[in-house]
Amino acid sequence: MRTIIEPFKIKMVEPIKLTSRAEREAILQKAAFNVFQIPAEEVMIDLLTDSGTAAMSAEQWAGMIRGDESYAGARSWFRFEAVLRDLTGMSHILPTHQGRASERILFELIGGPGKVIPSNNHFDTTRANIEHSGAKAVDLVIAEGTEPKSRHPFKGNLDVAKLERLIGEVGADKVPVCMITVTNNSGGGQPVSLANLRAVRAVCQRHRIPFFLDACRFAENAYLIKQREPGQADRSAKQIAREMFDLADGATISAKKDGLVNIGGVLLMRDDALAAKANNLLILTEGFITYGGLAGRDLEAMAQGFTEVLDEHYLEYRIRSVAYLGEHLLQAAIQIVEPPGGHAIYLDAAAFCPHIPPAQFPGQALVCALYRQAGIRAVEIGSVMFGGAAAPPMELVRLAIPRRVYTQSHIDYVIEAAIEVYQKRSSLRGLRIVEEPPALRHFTAKFAEV
Ligand SMILES: Cc1ncc(COP(=O)(O)O)c(C=O)c1O
Repeated sequence: MRTIIEPFKIKMVEPIKLTSRAEREAILQKAAFNVFQIPAEEVMIDLLTDSGTAAMSAEQWAGMIRGDESYAGARSWFRFEAVLRDLTGMSHILPTHQGRASERILFELIGGPGKVIPSNNHFDTTRANIEHSGAKAVDLVIAEGTEPKSRHPFKGNLDVAKLERLIGEVGADKVPVCMITVTNNSGGGQPVSLANLRAVRAVCQRHRIPFFLDACRFAENAYLIKQREPGQADRSAKQIAREMFDLADGATISAKKDGLVNIGGVLLMRDDALAAKANNLLILTEGFITYGGLAGRDLEAMAQGFTEVLDEHYLEYRIRSVAYLGEHLLQAAIQIVEPPGGHAIYLDAAAFCPHIPPAQFPGQALVCALYRQAGIRAVEIGSVMFGGAAAPPMELVRLAIPRRVYTQSHIDYVIEAAIEVYQKRSSLRGLRIVEEPPALRHFTAKFAEV
């Protein structure tokens, strides 16, 4: 059969409120053109994020009931620890309430003024936590990673020559860790190859620099390696994922992605001395080391989610349904970041509305247009999110696909809406910021149309 079906059936449904264009216009004005300020009930298809938005399985819900809520050494903790150890082989497994809690603990320990932390692309919370510690975050993705039309199979790769140059310039003692984000969310959800992970690992080893993964989407990255990297087709996604972790000294994970849960995170490491300090910080702000700010039931759901996510029928459906959206947009001449990546399709907003300059936020204008047209909520990843002194290399709008939530007809609706907006793209208007906070402005900034 050529048709790849959703490898699940639906047991519980949540109604979608259907709104009119006039209602959406009023809602958008009230939200000051910032879709983070729109109540979720007023959104018809919510593609704001794939983070924490997954539908859990019957087995995960069963685990929620079985959850052991003992303070220390709960049965659910031991199950979670065993699954994570089997998956990653890491010696220290710290549960946290979400990815940024892992980042905050890690960078409080190894960041600080004068330090430089390279990555392919740091995600916004990672960058914010690094900068909060006083360190500098540097993005070293390969050149193809910033060219929307490049069909390089691993556009998330880190440029190894740039890494060598950076270490030469600042000195290895100033680089407390080198990170790689898999898949590369800020760079279009693009995967990183095993060959690149091995090369970066070798450079880090030579300079005695620890190498960490931001492994939120490790399973999607592993499946894309299986599909695209020569010699990997016959290995299981689980074997590939394990090799990715084997190359690293540690990892931060938001379980809200490939953990298939609505809340949860993990901090992983091999270094005993660092782990002892991290456990102290975990106790200080998250909770005891066997629950890390989560309920026992959350640990059960994570243990089950981290197991289910490596099911290859699930991964095939997941990667294929994202590609389906991307391919239909490309057929309609809408430029996306090619080739489609793991969890989202990224529209090239600069190509979509060339009449809107970066200073007037073409991505935000497109986000507003999609909401007006069809009640679709997307997110800008461009001059609003990363704007500062220098404009970011790409103006993107991310359509992130929640895991196991929408069916093919929902995706067909998104395709139709994007094409309708594209046909009247010259009428889209730029925006200006009328109010903004000092950091992570995309969440709360207020806009007005130019
Ligand atoms: C690559 C990456 N790293 C870190 C995070 C932060 O995770 P959390 O939202 O759980 O704090 C995210 C969340 O979207 C992410 O995509």
